Amino acid sequence: MSIQTGMSIQTGMSIQTGMSIQTVGVVGCGLMGSGIAQISAQAGLKVIVREVDAKAVEAGRKKIDGFLGKAVEKGKLTAEEKARVLSNITFTTALEDLKPCDLVVEAIIENLEAKRDLFGALDKLCGPHAIFASNTSSLAVGDMAASTKRAQNFVGLHFFNPVPLMKLVEVVRTLETTEAVFASACAFGEKVGKTVVRAKDTPGFVVNLLLVPYLLDAVRALESGVATKEDIDAGMKLGCGYPMGPFELLDFVGLDTTLYIADIMFQEFKEYRYSAPPMLRRLVAGGRNGRKAGYGFYDYRQPAPAK
Ligand code: CAA
Repeated sequence: MSIQTGMSIQTGMSIQTGMSIQTVGVVGCGLMGSGIAQISAQAGLKVIVREVDAKAVEAGRKKIDGFLGKAVEKGKLTAEEKARVLSNITFTTALEDLKPCDLVVEAIIENLEAKRDLFGALDKLCGPHAIFASNTSSLAVGDMAASTKRAQNFVGLHFFNPVPLMKLVEVVRTLETTEAVFASACAFGEKVGKTVVRAKDTPGFVVNLLLVPYLLDAVRALESGVATKEDIDAGMKLGCGYPMGPFELLDFVGLDTTLYIADIMFQEFKEYRYSAPPMLRRLVAGGRNGRKAGYGFYDYRQPAPAK
């Protein structure tokens, strides 16, 4: 079975050039999934988005509609283009509806067991040519691929938040990914308008390998009283030209998400630079997870609660 799959991929000329990806499945329509669905639809591909229930579908649809609406307001898109993009997207709660996909991108919670269960189920549904991809930022792509019989058709496609605005995708190959599948995944990344960075399947890939220690060091600097968070943010924005300072970025990415990634990287490398500082852990324990919680390093609550 797996040999046949490999052969059909190797010999399929169109797959080699990435041209035969016409229908894209996106599982999970949260922050990342909604962006991935949107850019795929904007690239003219047919997109099938799967969420767990009607409420999650509606929330996902609203995210895409809202982002495209803002693009129209900003004059980046016409109302007709917005309608065309939306018409390329179908929403469903049934996993079976992903059957016709040439590529399925997973963007569900960062939990290996949940992802393995999902890919195991998709493996039984989708055609043997279909490529599976995870948007994981920290888990091993190979560990997910091992839950299927198509490890050679498996890649990481790591996008950045906000997906429609950030110009990068990391395309990750495991030890098993074939050349043809990797080329096809890279071609998909380019088709959806991103610059592709190729990486191997190690924790953090390229960006988080460098970004996570930087963010943790900023927290350590704050903990040890080097400067205020406002001054550290101003220092990195004005001194290095970063669009956000480290504390603004921590709030944007989510303190819980950053802690989760750091813990996985520390587990793997056992290096101090990936160890989470106590302040980060305490803030997460207190629910101060950043912008999405209304409170992280900065307070976004409106109106501000009485002290
Ligand atoms: N549709 C189309 N374009 C839009 C838009 C929309 N809905 N909303 C905004 N834009 C455009 C704006 O028009 C503007 O374009 P121009 O420069 O041509 O004018 C541009 O996008 C920037 O928009 P804004 O001026 O409204 O916003 P901003 O300047 O405050 O930038 C930001 C917002 C892009 C988020 C910027 O602050 C930034 O780049 N921040 C850093 C984000 C980052 O580092 N993300 C990665 C996090 S790490 C991660 O995701 C991976 C992980 O594993 C943890």
